[in-house]
Amino acid sequence: MSLEHSQDVHLESSDTGVDILKIENAHAIARMSLFGGHVLGFMPKHDEQERLWLSDKAVLDGSKAIRGGIPICWPWFGDHPSQPELPAHGYVRNQNWQLLSIDEADEQTTLRLAPHTTLNEGFDGQAELELEVRVGRSLTVTLTTTNIGDNPLSYGAALHSYLAAEDVTQCVIEGLSGDYKDKLDSGRIKPTPHPYRISGEMDRVHLTMPERVRLQSPAHPMQLLQSGHDSIVVWNPWSNKSQQMSDMPDNGYQCFVCIEAAVTQGYTLAPKQSHQLQQQIT
Ligand code: BG6
Repeated sequence: MSLEHSQDVHLESSDTGVDILKIENAHAIARMSLFGGHVLGFMPKHDEQERLWLSDKAVLDGSKAIRGGIPICWPWFGDHPSQPELPAHGYVRNQNWQLLSIDEADEQTTLRLAPHTTLNEGFDGQAELELEVRVGRSLTVTLTTTNIGDNPLSYGAALHSYLAAEDVTQCVIEGLSGDYKDKLDSGRIKPTPHPYRISGEMDRVHLTMPERVRLQSPAHPMQLLQSGHDSIVVWNPWSNKSQQMSDMPDNGYQCFVCIEAAVTQGYTLAPKQSHQLQQQIT
């Protein structure tokens, strides 16, 4: 189904030159920007609690990646493995995407999107990339990479979800165990704390792959289900770094924590093979 014939999906604005879609059905309201294929917000109707944090200072005109919601990082996570001058987290979050289809069912509304191109400096794989966004009682985001070339390709990715918290210091992350790589301490390997509170800057790559993670908070506990990942990344910039970011309010760090389903070790796809990275937020 196309946008013109949809009951659930409407063009909310294109004032800034970027199309923002509003998705509303019996179960939830969500918003998406076609720049970056970027989910901006998701609020189930049964509790009216917004699950995603979007910065008040987020730039929505397509001139830079959007701060908040769910940035799509691809085809690398963090810095490029050999060319640090290239943009962090790849290039599709800085690109226009097109809406391929809409499917409306009783339980959910499903959108399929693709970036205008998957080729750019720093990646020479022949790949097809598709994002599926399912809006129902939960939000399910699935990123499918298909190798359409004749040679193997390797890629990294993340569904870089900014989870809303009224006061992040009151939150506890459950479900992570084992070791993590501390990006703030030269990649040193450290044990996951228990209980896992957010009380300072953190940039951690958890190398275990739990399917289920919970963000317990007094206002609205959230459940995250992941698949296709090799890591869970936990990130909060805290006070100093928030102040240094032009698209983040000074106290922005108090209102979110990123818990990202990520491929940080590189995933190799044989020709014709596909791989799916998925996160569900409830
Ligand atoms: C996290 C990275 O995933 O994203 C951090 O681990 C990074 O190192 C953060 O600072 C935010 O990245 P960006 O490019 O959106 O500011």
